[in-house]
Amino acid sequence: MQKPLTGKVVLVAGGTMANVLGLAVARHAKAGFDLRAEGLQGGRPRMLLYGSSETHGWVKKGAELLGLGSSAFRAVGVDADDRVDVRAMRAAIRADRAAGHHPFCVIGTAGTVNTGATDDLRALAALCRDEGLWFHVDGAFGALARLSDELAPIENACRAQLYDFSALSEAIAGASHSGVIGRATPARPPRLAAPLRPKRRR
Ligand SMILES: Cc1ncc(COP(=O)(O)O)c(C=O)c1O
Repeated sequence: MQKPLTGKVVLVAGGTMANVLGLAVARHAKAGFDLRAEGLQGGRPRMLLYGSSETHGWVKKGAELLGLGSSAFRAVGVDADDRVDVRAMRAAIRADRAAGHHPFCVIGTAGTVNTGATDDLRALAALCRDEGLWFHVDGAFGALARLSDELAPIENACRAQLYDFSALSEAIAGASHSGVIGRATPARPPRLAAPLRPKRRR
């Protein structure tokens, strides 16, 4: 590994599960109310998320599973290199907010499933800072390569080779705000939360 990983890492069964978990964290962190207790059934503004039209299909499944509805995902167009059009995304976010909706999350892809394109992650991070949104990066292909000296040459190789990554697609769902994952996921039952006491010997 090139860079030390800090925070907590959760190993899950694949890219879809990692991303859906990340989206659950985003939904919780940016709801602005106690989403775990109240759910999404109140008459609140619609929570919306944004990514490129090249975002993998996990996003619609995730939006359905998390009660946001698949139409909460706004697919923004891409440039000639299949990278998301950041200006169009900013305009879409502002238009939705002006219409009374609640934009909460942007998804950047590091290595799209179709062509291996990586969005301009710095520009998306800046957009999220400006607009107060959660930034989720789907790194099912690209992030793994970035973290590993061994895989870095593959990242730079021709796009067709990106398909080799599918063999390595155990997902790593990482969050720099490690406490947020804990707060977004179900509470531990007291019997599991309590420390185990050694049995008394008679
Ligand atoms: C960019 C991207 N995200 C998510 C996924 C979903 O991963 P999985 O098939 O492991 O659920 C894929 C799978 O190809 C992918 O390419």
